[in-house]
Amino acid sequence: MQRVLEPELMDDAEQVVAYAEADFEKPHSEFIQRLKAFVNEPGFSGKALDLGCGPGDISRRFARAFPFCKIDAIDGSKPMIDYGVNSIDAELQSRLNFIHGKLPDTELPELRYHIIFSNSLLHHLPDPQVLWQVVKTYSTSGTRIAVMDLIRPDTTEMAKALIETYATKEPEILQRDFYCSLLAAFTVEEINDQMAQAGLPLTVEQISDRHVFISGIAS
Ligand SMILES: C[S@@+](CC[C@H](N)C(=O)[O-])C[C@H]1O[C@@H](n2cnc3c(N)ncnc32)[C@H](O)[C@@H]1O
Repeated sequence: MQRVLEPELMDDAEQVVAYAEADFEKPHSEFIQRLKAFVNEPGFSGKALDLGCGPGDISRRFARAFPFCKIDAIDGSKPMIDYGVNSIDAELQSRLNFIHGKLPDTELPELRYHIIFSNSLLHHLPDPQVLWQVVKTYSTSGTRIAVMDLIRPDTTEMAKALIETYATKEPEILQRDFYCSLLAAFTVEEINDQMAQAGLPLTVEQISDRHVFISGIAS
């Protein structure tokens, strides 16, 4: 099945609330567990960057899991960032900085980060190299890079079956977004080609029937 683009930014108010209030407990807590295993350093205190942070659920989970890190979290959607800003606990406020800005045009506060992560941004980008070039710009030797995203199924029937399995209890708008996201996602093979084109030494691993995890350390 050919890739079908979906709107790049999620800035419709109803869509933002549906997404922000959806139950992402399982994939988001698994993502944080993977980051912990990947970083594998008690007391890790590097500067962190969350690309396409949306309403900030993963940014907040990361801040709690890595209490010595400061995090810049960026998204091109103003309602997403507003949701994130309004949901920060007082205890996280000094470490978690939400930034409204579209990549790759927005300049980030730090020149380099020690860890760069992103969940579910890649499939929103018409040009996937936007993500990989931003990763390259803001990493240095030793930067940990971890990206999770959806995988495009082979057929629309398979995409519909994934909605049936994982999203029937969610509001209709969220089911529609999930379906569109599956159609806009990349295959593992395409992501491997992206790595070669970007010259990034990252490992691309299918970790479930719908998720891919891309990780490695910048050289
Ligand atoms: C599916 S959401 C993922 C949000 C969050 N990472 C999560 O896992 O809950 C994708 C987000 O990427 C944002 N986005 C898409 N293209 C972007 C770009 N070029 N620059 C910044 N944010 C972008 C969208 O606005 C949306 O909030």
